[in-house]
Amino acid sequence: MGTPTRRSVLSGAAAAAGLGVLARPAAADQAGRFTGKVVLITGGTSGIGEATARAFAAAGAKVAFCGRRTDRGREVERGIRATRGEATYIQADVRKPSSVQHFVGSAVQRYGRLDIAFNNAGVQISAPLHEVTLEQWDDVTNTNARGVFLTMKYQIPHMLRTGGHIIVNSSVGALIGRPNLSTYQATKQAVQALVKAAALEYGSQGIRVNAILPGITDTAMIRPPGLDDATWRRVLAYVGQENVDGLKRTATPQMIASAVLGLAGEEFAYLTGACVPVDGGIAAGRRMLTPPLP
Ligand SMILES: NC(=O)c1ccc[n+]([C@@H]2O[C@H](COP(=O)([O-])OP(=O)(O)OC[C@H]3O[C@@H](n4cnc5c(N)ncnc54)[C@H](OP(=O)(O)O)[C@@H]3O)[C@@H](O)[C@H]2O)c1
Repeated sequence: MGTPTRRSVLSGAAAAAGLGVLARPAAADQAGRFTGKVVLITGGTSGIGEATARAFAAAGAKVAFCGRRTDRGREVERGIRATRGEATYIQADVRKPSSVQHFVGSAVQRYGRLDIAFNNAGVQISAPLHEVTLEQWDDVTNTNARGVFLTMKYQIPHMLRTGGHIIVNSSVGALIGRPNLSTYQATKQAVQALVKAAALEYGSQGIRVNAILPGITDTAMIRPPGLDDATWRRVLAYVGQENVDGLKRTATPQMIASAVLGLAGEEFAYLTGACVPVDGGIAAGRRMLTPPLP
């Protein structure tokens, strides 16, 4: 539609990027930490959700995850099982109530309970508000906001029996206004409202509800198509240096997964209703996305 996208902004940055290599995965050894726990993840077919599925499985959890791409889902499932992890891919589209109900129901049927949910599936659009079509608005809001509502709606009845912890993937972008991200940011703020209200509604019944707010993370969501790996690494290094005020580097999906596992652990048993930035300091600096190129 000819509007600037976040991808095209990053593509533009490629031309000027000539900096060093970026972040390393931070995979703490968590073996056995979640043994006996059943974890549900939406959007586990790539990016942050995939990394979180792999990390929970490596830590002993039984993981059920969804996404629309069956080939990717089966590949991730095979990869986890090859490392002796327990995981099941269930095809589901979080925009559709019957699909979400089937995902949650099948997962609980297979593993017998539900302890932790990471409601992570999301899509992004970047365009000036007046150019966002109703179809785009509906697609992004139905995925990012209604999808989180639906997953919580079908997860909570199971957790009311056993207690549980829901972690929603919002975004640090929800804390600051940014041009061209109105629809995406609206959804990411909306889910924070769901998190806070649900934390109050269910806290006394043993269910905790929190949100994680990742900063700029190296996934397909932000990577321009067709860019070779070396150029992409230089772009990320440049973007991290210019936009991540604290740590001066972007995140890997494994870093965000590691934070999700941290929040899900007993160490944070008193945390609920919180929206936790894991953003390298972006929120602290109140600056985001690529500035004018030098
Ligand atoms: N990357 C970042 O910089 C960043 C920063 C802050 C927050 N986040 C958030 O992190 C979450 C994960 O994104 P990512 O960065 O890991 O990007 P990604 O690699 O594109 O992952 C998005 C995931 O969501 C799934 N998904 C999308 N629409 C879906 C639907 N209708 N039903 C079921 N699954 C669906 C995708 O699976 P299928 O395509 O197979 O359906 C995929 O597994 C998103 O909520 C995003 O907003 C990302």
